[in-house]
Amino acid sequence: MPLTRDLGDATVVITGASSGIGAATAYELARRGADVVLAARTEEALRRVADRCRGLGGQALVVPTDVTDPVAVERLAARAAAEFGRIDAWINNAAVGVAGLFDEIPVEEFRRVVAVNLLGTVYGTKAALPRLEAAGGGVLVNNASVLAEVAMPYQSAYNATKHGIRGLADTVRQELRVTGRANISICTVLPASIDTPIFRHAANHSRHELTPPPPVYPPEMVAETIVRLLRRPRREAYAGGAARLVGLQWRLAPALAERALGWYTARTQFGPGLRLNSTGNLFNPHAEAERTGGWHGRRWQLVRITAAFGLAAAGTAVGTLAALRGRADR
Ligand SMILES: NC(=O)c1ccc[n+]([C@@H]2O[C@H](COP(=O)([O-])OP(=O)(O)OC[C@H]3O[C@@H](n4cnc5c(N)ncnc54)[C@H](OP(=O)(O)O)[C@@H]3O)[C@@H](O)[C@H]2O)c1
Repeated sequence: MPLTRDLGDATVVITGASSGIGAATAYELARRGADVVLAARTEEALRRVADRCRGLGGQALVVPTDVTDPVAVERLAARAAAEFGRIDAWINNAAVGVAGLFDEIPVEEFRRVVAVNLLGTVYGTKAALPRLEAAGGGVLVNNASVLAEVAMPYQSAYNATKHGIRGLADTVRQELRVTGRANISICTVLPASIDTPIFRHAANHSRHELTPPPPVYPPEMVAETIVRLLRRPRREAYAGGAARLVGLQWRLAPALAERALGWYTARTQFGPGLRLNSTGNLFNPHAEAERTGGWHGRRWQLVRITAAFGLAAAGTAVGTLAALRGRADR
């Protein structure tokens, strides 16, 4: 069920709102008159996002929150409801990543990625459901990734949490339906590579600069997908044609797609720069209210984009044929 009121009258909580897709989503919602409640750890960046939201026409409340703390997330929900009277939608968007071979990722960093991405979504969902119910219904959006459906080397922790978020959403959606609470919709977003600062924020044990595997889409594209889901909820929505294509490949011929995507992303997720080991923003926030990371439309990417589409198209064609002939091994 969609929001019970017009977006212009709705209150929407967004986690991870101090940067990237979260900030872009706040702007899209504020532009439509929604009241936004902005949560993340970096208060100064949240304040800058809030100022811009107010300039765009929405009210904005800043609630510095670490989503790994269930008490803080509950406090976020309580403050949002107290300030605006109700919560109509909740967007679990905060996330972190660590790049490196599985064997090289320190256990405490793996654990932190699980705590932010998966448990943060668990705590957000727990805090949101009673408020959405109190509002007579509403929409909960989990910003996952196409990596909730497919896999990519050097990203084991991130991939595992995103797969977990998808499974969590599917189960809670079933439970809402069988307990007569289908007026609350749960939607999972599966974006492709998006131009945000996440590639600089991530912890890194790969010794190389991280870059988004092309094609790279602007954060506004995900923000618009989220806004569409609030108006017309669906179980899942891809953001970016490449995500839809790779997802299709993976469903049709998983073994082949796993190999092709592994080969492709192992070559395209690292740039030419060298990097020392770093824990990135896992334990220390440093968001700067930047929507983008400066990757979109870089000239050197054009060659890689062409290669990406060539590979994806060829892989899909081969996979489809194999699936049709019943030869795709599982
Ligand atoms: N960029 C992509 O290619 C891409 C693709 C698919 C899906 N996504 C998903 O899109 C979402 C947004 O990512 P992004 O690309 O916009 O990355 P980003 O620019 O790095 O933003 C991540 C946000 O999460 C917040 N955050 C991190 N740890 C937190 C914690 N412990 N508690 C609360 N907030 C925390 C960060 O703010 P603070 O540091 O201030 O806390 C920041 O606002 C994520 O779920 C990501 O997985 C991104």
